[in-house]
Amino acid sequence: MTEHIKIQQDSAVLEIAFTRPDKKNALSNAMYRAATEALDGAQKDPTIRAVLFAAEGDAFTAGNDLADFASAATGKGDGLAAHGFIEVLGRADKPIVAAVPGLAVGVGTAMLLHCDLVFLAEGATLSTPFVNLALVPEAASSMLLPPLIGHVRAFAMFALGEAISAAEALSLGLANKVLPKDEVLPAARQAGADAGNAAARSDRSHQKVDARQAGKRLQTNEAREALNAFAERRKPDLRNLCHKMAVR
Ligand code: COA
Repeated sequence: MTEHIKIQQDSAVLEIAFTRPDKKNALSNAMYRAATEALDGAQKDPTIRAVLFAAEGDAFTAGNDLADFASAATGKGDGLAAHGFIEVLGRADKPIVAAVPGLAVGVGTAMLLHCDLVFLAEGATLSTPFVNLALVPEAASSMLLPPLIGHVRAFAMFALGEAISAAEALSLGLANKVLPKDEVLPAARQAGADAGNAAARSDRSHQKVDARQAGKRLQTNEAREALNAFAERRKPDLRNLCHKMAVR
């Protein structure tokens, strides 16, 4: 059992829970790998009919572990396991349900775009502030989000790093229900149990492009400055960042 990920099967639903609440469930390479293996295994296991992503504590996930990003940026560490996770998520053909107890940052929001049923806690927020790290949108989010919520809203999320509230996410069609926090997981579990076997999946070719771009962006000075700033708890100086975000 990998630390910070809990995997359990309840009847026909495989539950993958992020259990690193002290770090807002930031996803380390080890967590991605464990989640990837479980998600991939679920596709081949006839006893599993749906997958549920859940999280302990008050956050869904604060996105990729920034220490792993920093290691990747300097060519150290063991790569970026996020890419393998996103690839499996994109080709998963069993329904995926998400129980989101609080903030979902970066890949936390991007992965919801690959889910089939999304339940948000009232206080949850969704954000994709890749730009603050001098990175580009990942997990095919630049392809999936604009058609769902419109270009201008998506642009504000990607280019300005604007967060949206659970209520806004519901009205924009990004979630099925907004519930009191303690009702989110039970509702998602019930939905997972009820879910059928088929679900439309997204175009994986865009994810590969995103993954390549994200890897390249990590090598830039802007990304390194942003990651250093986070570690040093200061505002990054990204004045030289002049890339226009392409979300159309
Ligand atoms: N990677 C690694 N550690 C993270 C993290 C991340 N993505 N997000 C939060 N943490 C850690 C913090 O460093 C802190 O650790 P510490 O207690 O050892 O200092 C702990 O989680 C709590 O975070 P904190 O910043 O104190 O909580 P907050 O409620 O004030 O803010 C966030 C929460 C998520 C808004 C803020 O932590 C944040 O902006 N994180 C970065 C998110 C991000 O950029 N993700 C990648 C997106 S592309």
